[in-house]
Amino acid sequence: MRFFFNSEPEYRRKGLANRALQLMFSYATASDSKPPLPVSKESLVVRIGDKNTASIALFQKLGFETTKHVAVFEETELRYTGKGVSSPWLIGERRAYG
Ligand SMILES: CC(C)(COP(=O)(O)OP(=O)(O)OC[C@H]1O[C@@H](n2cnc3c(N)ncnc32)[C@H](O)[C@@H]1OP(=O)(O)O)[C@@H](O)C(=O)NCCC(=O)NCCS
Repeated sequence: MRFFFNSEPEYRRKGLANRALQLMFSYATASDSKPPLPVSKESLVVRIGDKNTASIALFQKLGFETTKHVAVFEETELRYTGKGVSSPWLIGERRAYG
């Protein structure tokens, strides 16, 4: 899955991206999520432009570590290891569909 997110400058550094990603990742990895979910935490990989230090720091705070540098695309690949994360990701409200 590819996604792009961009928060309005006046709302940055308030923990909103961190919170939104925790909710998304906890949903994607929860054992009671419907197929094709869940995926394992260890399968979560992100690729971020090398110059985007804010995003790299954001994912490091969520427990991702650099695993590869893709020089041709000037991208850093980070994979979830859980390092440095002391509490579980936030869990959002679940709604029943169908
Ligand atoms: C990257 C971005 C989404 C972060 O959103 P945000 O809501 O400000 O992020 P948060 O407040 O949740 O930050 C969580 C952590 O990420 C890291 N971080 C976020 N912005 C940072 C910055 N400018 N410099 C360094 N670290 C940063 C910090 O570790 C931060 O924790 P802290 O505030 O306790 O130090 C936002 O800066 C943005 O929209 N940037 C432009 C678009 C972009 O780069 N999108 C991502 C690529 S798809």
